[in-house]
Amino acid sequence: MLKIDDIKKICVIGAGNMGHQISVCAALAGFNVTCNDISQNMLDNAKDFAQTYLKERVAKGKLTEEQANLALARLTFTQDLEQATGGADFVIEAAVENLDIKRKLFSDLDRIAPPHAILTTNSSYIVSSRIADATKRPEKVCNMHFFNPALVMKLVEVVQNPHTSEETIQLAMDLCQKLGKIGVRLKKEIYGFVVNRVLTAIKNEALFLADAGIATPEEIDTAIVNALGHPMGPFKLMDLTGIDLAYQICMERYKESLDPKDKPSPLLVEKYVKQEFGKKTNKGWYSYA
Ligand code: CAA
Repeated sequence: MLKIDDIKKICVIGAGNMGHQISVCAALAGFNVTCNDISQNMLDNAKDFAQTYLKERVAKGKLTEEQANLALARLTFTQDLEQATGGADFVIEAAVENLDIKRKLFSDLDRIAPPHAILTTNSSYIVSSRIADATKRPEKVCNMHFFNPALVMKLVEVVQNPHTSEETIQLAMDLCQKLGKIGVRLKKEIYGFVVNRVLTAIKNEALFLADAGIATPEEIDTAIVNALGHPMGPFKLMDLTGIDLAYQICMERYKESLDPKDKPSPLLVEKYVKQEFGKKTNKGWYSYA
């Protein structure tokens, strides 16, 4: 039976919003990490981020120079999926939120990764039972849902699908602990899990209020931050996590439910069409230039 101490190499698929920070987090926790992406540009950005972030942590006195250098030495960035996944004990997939792409990826991961390797997805909305049957090891597949920014946010939702074994869930929970995270186990799959269901209710209500001209996004954020003690309001949070992602998630939901209340709000559509996706494009609900 695989134990947490047997896990030496972690492979992170996707160097985007979540993957680059999950990689650094795992390297800081002592794992050898290979971060894989189809885009060399994304990998270069992820590597630059790791170097800058670790240097800043040393300057801030949060890490010793030795700890930072060791973490950097444990990180490899590669476009080569075979190199990234070969010899991996644990895989965290954080690629784009597209079911077909994930199913193809998991079928490749199943072929390349050692038979003992656990295959997890960081997907926020695609439950792992929709992916697990693309592999011959459905009992070793589950969701491990991190939050943005992954180096800071403590929570990871560990979501069991009907085929996930107890051993896999235990390993995922143990890994959370080793990464310095707090794992919360969800015994059944549900669309949006716990946090995004609550967050979506807040976000949709905030968009409704802005669409109706009741208050501006800035005013709504000010209200939420100062009344509820949230670290940032729903609009600033959308800028952080990506307005494109918010739109795509809404559209996916709407396509499935055909319920008008799931339709992206007019303001969200406008931002999406203008490609004002938030921090990553320097403009979203706020300007960052
Ligand atoms: N990456 C890494 N570290 C970051 C960071 C980033 N983007 N932004 C801030 N930090 C770190 C800083 O280095 C600092 O660390 P230390 O205290 O150890 O030095 C710490 O976070 C606080 O930073 P700041 O003082 O600069 O800024 P802040 O106090 O305003 O905090 C924040 C920034 C952590 C992002 C905070 O505003 C926050 O917690 N916001 C809410 C984030 C949230 O709700 N995330 C969940 C999103 S939902 C999701 O992720 C689900 C999904 O499926 C997409």
